[in-house]
Amino acid sequence: VTEQRFESKSTEETISLGRQIGAGLKAPVLLFLSGELGAGKTTLTKGIVSGAGATREEEITSPTFTLIHKYAGPEPAAGADSPSIYHIDLYRIEGAQDLATLGLDDIFDEKAIVIVEWPDRMNPPVGWPVIRIDLEHVAEEARAITVRSE
Ligand SMILES: Nc1ncnc2c1ncn2[C@@H]1O[C@H](COP(=O)(O)OP(=O)(O)OP(=O)(O)O)[C@@H](O)[C@H]1O
Ligand SMILES: [Mg+2]
Repeated sequence: VTEQRFESKSTEETISLGRQIGAGLKAPVLLFLSGELGAGKTTLTKGIVSGAGATREEEITSPTFTLIHKYAGPEPAAGADSPSIYHIDLYRIEGAQDLATLGLDDIFDEKAIVIVEWPDRMNPPVGWPVIRIDLEHVAEEARAITVRSE
């Protein structure tokens, strides 16, 4: 287990940390983002998705109503496969039955990068490495961000 703690003093700093995290990801991998409303989970995700090479930050929005957003991976280099990136928000999910309607099983059949807000609503699928990121609202624009990987 490795644990790293960061302090962010602005929205831009959090996006920038996300870009660094995203650039180092190798699919399949699950990222569990925890923290209260407004802690910065979606903000960090903007950086992660763009750092992984999928799309531009302004196109990355919260999947509050649709629950799942899918981004295509970076342009595949010759021979290399480029993983899809899923951004899932489980805040509105209530119970196992509700969760089952989301079709997560199909996503976990892929070799993808999967980012989940409010991950306490689900169990990680067997065999997927999980990176757990906790965001703590310290002050108006200050966040403590802890990144733990198994
Ligand atoms: N250092 C910071 N890091 C991240 N966001 C910050 C920071 N300082 C201020 N903010 C602001 O806090 C808000 C964070 O909102 P965001 O949607 O990312 O939170 P969230 O954790 O996804 O919330 P929710 O659970 O409602 O989805 C944004 O408006 C962002 O600009
Ligand atoms: Mg959010």
